[in-house]
Amino acid sequence: MSFPVSRPRRLRRTAALRRLVAETRLSVDDLVAPLFVREGIDEPQPVASLPGVVQHTRASLRAEVSALRGLGVPAVILFGIPEEKDAVGSEAWNPDGVVQVALRDLRDEVGDEMVLMADLCVDEYTDHGHCGVLDSHGSVDNDATLELYARAAVAQAEAGADVTAPSGMMDGQVAAIRGALDDAGHVDTVILAYAAKYASALYGPFRDAVDVQIVGGGDRRGYQQDPPNAREAIIEIMADVDQGADMVMVKPALSYLDVIAEARAVVDVPLAAYHVSGEYAMVQAAAANGWLDGDAVGMEHLLSIRRAGADFILTYLARRAAEILQG
Ligand code: PBG
Repeated sequence: MSFPVSRPRRLRRTAALRRLVAETRLSVDDLVAPLFVREGIDEPQPVASLPGVVQHTRASLRAEVSALRGLGVPAVILFGIPEEKDAVGSEAWNPDGVVQVALRDLRDEVGDEMVLMADLCVDEYTDHGHCGVLDSHGSVDNDATLELYARAAVAQAEAGADVTAPSGMMDGQVAAIRGALDDAGHVDTVILAYAAKYASALYGPFRDAVDVQIVGGGDRRGYQQDPPNAREAIIEIMADVDQGADMVMVKPALSYLDVIAEARAVVDVPLAAYHVSGEYAMVQAAAANGWLDGDAVGMEHLLSIRRAGADFILTYLARRAAEILQG
């Protein structure tokens, strides 16, 4: 009787063997928690399409970040919901705007023990819901928008952000922000570029979380990437690295694992992936119906994003995953 030469199952026999030969590991160090902070509310507001996620008050945000620190999560990324929105999104660079105030609170709360990131865009701050200023035809004016991003980046840095993360997909945004930060003396502020960000239907629940409706039922297909294109993602990523991005991101994650793998092959800067609101919501909805084990599927999602090549993951599962990883 002949035996196959290779018997890979030998290495799967016990949990200890499997642990020893695991090619990919997911650690609490790989997690970034996205958090929403809303101006002018007294109680945290649940987000119906994101069970377990809330719009925070200043106080509840502090408490959440403190809990995340206790679990060992190294970083958070903030999104703000202002009381007043206008055509250009001026609350995004108001020194007393909701995210700037929250950044100061959190720096006071955690010192340098956590990395404080701020999403940099104006869609949460504009009354039309687009990621930039509109021209006379109602489309987003790329170069006029760069000036707004530059102001917001400096405001975030001044409020204490370690990392500013431009998510608007304007051409030249990283160079514009780097220049403005350097001119203002913020040479140490890190730029995490949402470099390959697709025009995805998976952002639906996020838009509930930030109270954004795009005017006239519009979309972001004129500036975010088209889902069929993977090579174009590499052009975007290389452009952002050339402009001075310290770290780059692919978003969403699971439908774009090929893009993550390709990005990992071509850049050596830290690579992030965003497990977005729709990816989280699908797992929560199925788990609530008893159709799958939400914790197990969630951890498998995160592991697969690491296996594709991402160094760290922005995920609404951060707190739960940290609890599971801490055992
Ligand atoms: C733009 C921004 C969006 C997300 C992160 N930054 C929304 C968009 O581009 O429409 C989506 C994140 C998610 O779905 O979890 N400020």
